[in-house]
Amino acid sequence: MKVSVCVGSSCHIKGSYDVIDELTRLIKKYGVEDRVELAASFCLGDCASGVAVMSDGIILHNVNKENAEEIFCGKIYPVIKG
Ligand code: FES
Repeated sequence: MKVSVCVGSSCHIKGSYDVIDELTRLIKKYGVEDRVELAASFCLGDCASGVAVMSDGIILHNVNKENAEEIFCGKIYPVIKG
């Protein structure tokens, strides 16, 4: 499954790279490295509520380092596990 973190200018300012670091850590922590392709993305068109993350075709809003694990566990991990 592809998870794309927006690194457009608005999301970049709000901490895209911190989100990428945190998602990388979480993907390892939960042992799903072989099931997730983490990528950076151009603007996802959701600049007002970035950092925007596209997971399985759905945009997740306002992702940051602090809430990344909650969002990962609630919205990303269940889809990975099917
Ligand atoms: S810059 Fe991230 S959604 Fe536009």
